[in-house]
Amino acid sequence: MSVHSDVKRVTVHTLQAMKTNGEKISMLTAYDYSMARVIDAAGIDVILVGDSASNVMAGHETTLPITLDQMIYHASSVIRGVQRALVVVDLPFGSYQGNSRQALESAIRIMKESGAHAVKLEGGAEIEESIKRILSAGIPVMGHLGLTPQSIYKFGTYTVRAKEDAEAAKLRADAKLLEKLGCFGLVLEKIPAKLTKVVSESLTIPTIGIGGGVDADGQVLVSHDLFGLTKDFHPRFLRRYLDLYDLMKGAVEQYIADVKSQDFPNEKEQY
Ligand code: KIV
Repeated sequence: MSVHSDVKRVTVHTLQAMKTNGEKISMLTAYDYSMARVIDAAGIDVILVGDSASNVMAGHETTLPITLDQMIYHASSVIRGVQRALVVVDLPFGSYQGNSRQALESAIRIMKESGAHAVKLEGGAEIEESIKRILSAGIPVMGHLGLTPQSIYKFGTYTVRAKEDAEAAKLRADAKLLEKLGCFGLVLEKIPAKLTKVVSESLTIPTIGIGGGVDADGQVLVSHDLFGLTKDFHPRFLRRYLDLYDLMKGAVEQYIADVKSQDFPNEKEQY
């Protein structure tokens, strides 16, 4: 029997068992109760309350504007819709880079006020102290390396990271450091597939890829991209499973037509 079908509640230990068993981990984002309910009922292993909420929920160009209070609001809505998945919440930009005490306070607020199960932080050696301090409070931490969108103004573009040897070497060293510190897993975003394979094979903790090829120990997508709600976003790594934008637009157009023609409501739809 697979680890996936065996567990009632996914924990960080379940993810470790999946890696040990060679069983891939599925992860998707959610930001609200209704979407979280659907995704959890389908049997997803991990739900990420990503700071991509800044883009797909609030319409910002980057992930930088979203606040800790807003992340807590999204996370607490998600938690109410989830029975099985492990819920991981992004620490937003500006809530952990100042110093390790600020990082710990932010992580504690997320855990206490939302009921989430773990936090995710972007970066390697530069946030070592923050990761140590959060872990020492008993809060599980997931790392995030490669394309880290909170650093978009440093990178300048959203293109593939770590193609050059020096950046790839730093990423490998950071991945080892995050494992040594005690992170339970690691997101690898938009790096070459060969590097994903090398890093995943070098670690005992699971890696979760996005735009990093099939050799990560699991995959994550932004749910709005998977559902086809983000119509104008076409990165090569994205597979759309629905065209929800057109389906929803069609439904609204039909509703408008039915209201105008007085087809809606009919006799059965009134009291
Ligand atoms: O915020 C987010 O959705 C993420 C994923 C893309 C990994 O960090």
